[in-house]
Amino acid sequence: MNLKKVLEVKDLKISFDTFAGKVHAIRGVSFDLYEGETLAIVGESGSGKSVTTRSIMRLLSSNANIDNGEILFKGANIVKKSEKEMQSIRGKEIAMIFQDPMTSLDPTMPIGKQVAESLIKHNKVSKKEGLKAALDLLNLVGIPNAEKRLKNYPHQFSGGQRQRIVIAIALICYPEVLIADEPTTALDVTIQAQILELMKEIQGKINTSIIFITHDLGVVANVADRVAVMYGGRIVEVGTSEEIFYNPQHPYTWGLLGSMPTLEGTEDRLYAIPGSPPDLLAPPTGDAFYPRNEFAMQIDTEEAPPYFEISSTHQAATWLLAPQAPKVEPPLEIQRRWKIFQEKQAAKKG
Ligand SMILES: Nc1ncnc2c1ncn2[C@@H]1O[C@H](COP(=O)(O)OP(=O)(O)OP(=O)(O)O)[C@@H](O)[C@H]1O
Ligand SMILES: [Mg+2]
Repeated sequence: MNLKKVLEVKDLKISFDTFAGKVHAIRGVSFDLYEGETLAIVGESGSGKSVTTRSIMRLLSSNANIDNGEILFKGANIVKKSEKEMQSIRGKEIAMIFQDPMTSLDPTMPIGKQVAESLIKHNKVSKKEGLKAALDLLNLVGIPNAEKRLKNYPHQFSGGQRQRIVIAIALICYPEVLIADEPTTALDVTIQAQILELMKEIQGKINTSIIFITHDLGVVANVADRVAVMYGGRIVEVGTSEEIFYNPQHPYTWGLLGSMPTLEGTEDRLYAIPGSPPDLLAPPTGDAFYPRNEFAMQIDTEEAPPYFEISSTHQAATWLLAPQAPKVEPPLEIQRRWKIFQEKQAAKKG
């Protein structure tokens, strides 16, 4: 793996002012993004995936406060940049595909022009050169007859094709970082996987780093180099895909792995992690996961766990990894599902 860091997020804390009080959405998030890698961020709804990535683009709502931390992009702190400086980074050096890509296309503009727009704006190329680049990229993302279709409007394309167009728009300036915030929730998991494959293929050609956000761990199993698991505004476990899928340490990660659909037979009821996420208006002092953790100990109620190192690439924040803690095994139902998943992965690899 290339060890050159493109992004370094350090102890980021973000809160929102609301009528009900302060929502402590991001409570000390740190991670690095390496050149050319794909980092998946997974976690339940409300865990802080979008707020984290929107802060990298500095696209937070006006009631947001960045209370602490820095986001280093090529050595400079994004948190401190002016809006004007951000405008030259956004879309050019760091691009984002939003959660609902269908609404991010302009229905009144031909797609050739839409794809070329940000290149013309940022790189000051001529209209003609812009359209030529747009055509190359539309071919690359697999739009059939792209040359003839440059003048077509979004409604003239299928859902899957529009998805590809949105990716072309994000990639037109060959950004160093591409953030995809669950780009295909509206589409089924198979298409989600195809889109991710496509992004990987293009990544191989332009060496961009990808942050891919999803609820579904299964989707990223074959494509993410590393996985960060978020819970209650923190990263609770991070590791290579191999480490997260074959040697997970945090009970929340066990739950996520156990709740992946196995897509088999009628006996297949989806396992759900019992309980609900923490109240971020008043986050607990201890481990935010303890009310849902069947292995919780006294200390979980008193003190937030530090990161314990499993390997140089693998860390998890759970008191279960403290030397004094009893050794526990993941619940049997989770182990059973996990095994089905691993067998399938092995079968896919042939
Ligand atoms: N503008 C806002 N005002 C108040 N609270 C907010 C705002 N935006 C986000 N939050 C809160 O911040 C927390 C993290 O939200 P975020 O959107 O990052 O979650 P997520 O992990 O992306 O979830 P999902 O999977 O549903 O997209 C949530 O508790 C959410 O309610
Ligand atoms: Mg989100």
